[in-house]
Amino acid sequence: MIVTIDGPAGSGKSTVARKLAALMGIPYLDTGAMYRALTLKALESGTSLDDPDALVRLARETAIALDCGPTYVRVRMDGRDVSEAIRSMQVNAHTNPVAANPGVRAVLVEKQREIGRQLGSLVTEGRDQGSVVFPDADVKFLLEASDAKRAERRYLELKADGEEVDLDAILANIRSRDKNDERQWLPLKERGQAIVIDTTAMSIAAVVERMREEVERCRARQAVRR
Ligand code: DC
Repeated sequence: MIVTIDGPAGSGKSTVARKLAALMGIPYLDTGAMYRALTLKALESGTSLDDPDALVRLARETAIALDCGPTYVRVRMDGRDVSEAIRSMQVNAHTNPVAANPGVRAVLVEKQREIGRQLGSLVTEGRDQGSVVFPDADVKFLLEASDAKRAERRYLELKADGEEVDLDAILANIRSRDKNDERQWLPLKERGQAIVIDTTAMSIAAVVERMREEVERCRARQAVRR
């Protein structure tokens, strides 16, 4: 079974994706980590973020390996563990040109499909998982939340990691990323192909429970068809 979870930064995707995957006993894929790892590589290697072709070359030659466990995601870039480094504000602030590059997306989408083929069943989380990467997924979720709530969540997360953070800067960063990101999931919403959940006033447990119910419903439908 393939379950996709898309939505903006801070909508709660990563946390609930992990928990849902653990409940279902299947792996979890954090695709944002791949865009983050590539952004880190561009920053470290001095590759210009204004040079689309150089970014595509970088995507092709960079080895990104993910180990997404039930309570952690370990990310290796060219063999080095970059799990913490990819969560910095510096990386946050520079993902747009990487994620908006169609050539880069093509390379990473293919890697994600390959992981999907290998795993067979997974909960995958990103922006384009239900619309582009796994259009035939069994259950597609779209998570939403107010931008103020999303900024607050990111703020608490970064603060817990010991980063010096400013709530207004995070809000500005979230709004600018939204502009680029929402193009990926809007088609899902417009075509009514996703189960939309507004998580603004919901606890993590309530979101996960709602998703579990939907997955059960889908399983029951599939069992009847068989
Ligand atoms: O979910 P996140 O904040 O870790 O994502 C990091 C960046 O990658 C963000 O700019 C959105 C982008 N992204 C994307 O364009 N497509 C995905 N499938 C996942 C993330």
